[in-house]
Amino acid sequence: MTERIHDGTAGGTDDVQGSPDTTDSSNSALMGTEGTSAPGAGGDGAHGDGELATRDGHGELPARFENPGLPAHVYRRSDIDPKAAIRREREVATFFGLSTLGTVLFIVAYFAIKPAGKSGTDLLDAVSLSTKLLGLGLGLALFCIGVGAIHWAKTLMPDDEVVAVRKPMRSSDEDRADAVAALKDGAAGAGLGRRKLIRNSLLGALAPLGLLAIIPLRDLGPLPGASLAYTAWKPGRRLVTDPTGRPIKAADVPIGGVIHVQPEGIDDAEHPIDERAKATTLVIRLEPDEITDPKQKKWAVDGIVAYSKVCTHVGCPVGLYEQQTHHLLCPCHQSTFDVTKDCAVIFGPAARPLPQLPLAVDSQGYLVSSEDFQEPIGPSFWERGER
Ligand code: FES
Repeated sequence: MTERIHDGTAGGTDDVQGSPDTTDSSNSALMGTEGTSAPGAGGDGAHGDGELATRDGHGELPARFENPGLPAHVYRRSDIDPKAAIRREREVATFFGLSTLGTVLFIVAYFAIKPAGKSGTDLLDAVSLSTKLLGLGLGLALFCIGVGAIHWAKTLMPDDEVVAVRKPMRSSDEDRADAVAALKDGAAGAGLGRRKLIRNSLLGALAPLGLLAIIPLRDLGPLPGASLAYTAWKPGRRLVTDPTGRPIKAADVPIGGVIHVQPEGIDDAEHPIDERAKATTLVIRLEPDEITDPKQKKWAVDGIVAYSKVCTHVGCPVGLYEQQTHHLLCPCHQSTFDVTKDCAVIFGPAARPLPQLPLAVDSQGYLVSSEDFQEPIGPSFWERGER
């Protein structure tokens, strides 16, 4: 049910027929409840006699608010002046007329300008002119029709406030009882209770339906097992440059330099690509006195430290080294690791430092790993702590 409110009157008061020239005198009678007026309409506020009943006796909260009603209706000039209304009407018609002109321009341009059969600059000129006129005509037609419609709505269409009274959402008791009865009738007609064979076979068909969603998960591949917890680095395994595969000695790493390395023989692994992805490591040389962390110092060789290149955020390669600050930067989300602080995270979303690879020197002076990383490399995963 819809009820029009004239002059800001909320339901329940005398109906004020909105003669525009009665606006002022009607305002005081418009607000829904006794002793209450609309904001700005000259009343004494929203609380009737001004007393605030309190919820808990402490005087902070009013127990109820009275309906402040709708603000007083403001008439437009076109509502109260017939000449103004005629002017607005002409303006709207002008916009619609301009829209028609735009449409005509589009149609004429479409048929009058024929790029077909032209060539060279003539073709380009014709296409250019045609495109411009088509765009202009279409734009004018749509723009003016929109402006005209808005102008019409804002100046001439009724703008009085409307209250739409909502019906209760709940069905009546009779309707609810009818629905239940209809369901029962339907179930009885289908014979679900009587025809046990159909009922049981239906249940038997529905029960395994969930498997259709679960079984394809098998295509995600075999479970990774412990493969995420370990890499190809083993005690005594030489560090070789990536991709040339040249073993390196401590003297090959200049101070401030960074070298990408892999374990020697990585390409002989059963899954070389997977193993390379996990074992990829950065070797960096610092001044020995720049290393302060005891563990970092213990796993270093003459200021040479090695860290996993796999970002502990979501696994991008941490490929950017800033020589002056000794910061390693992951370009994916800007996680930054400080090499002089055992690759602690100093910026970005990564939650853990890069794992360090313990280094040693073999009998021929080549750099080797003294053992695998002491924790899983890369991003976190559920079973990470079980290694
Ligand atoms: S993967 Fe390195 S910061 Fe996100």
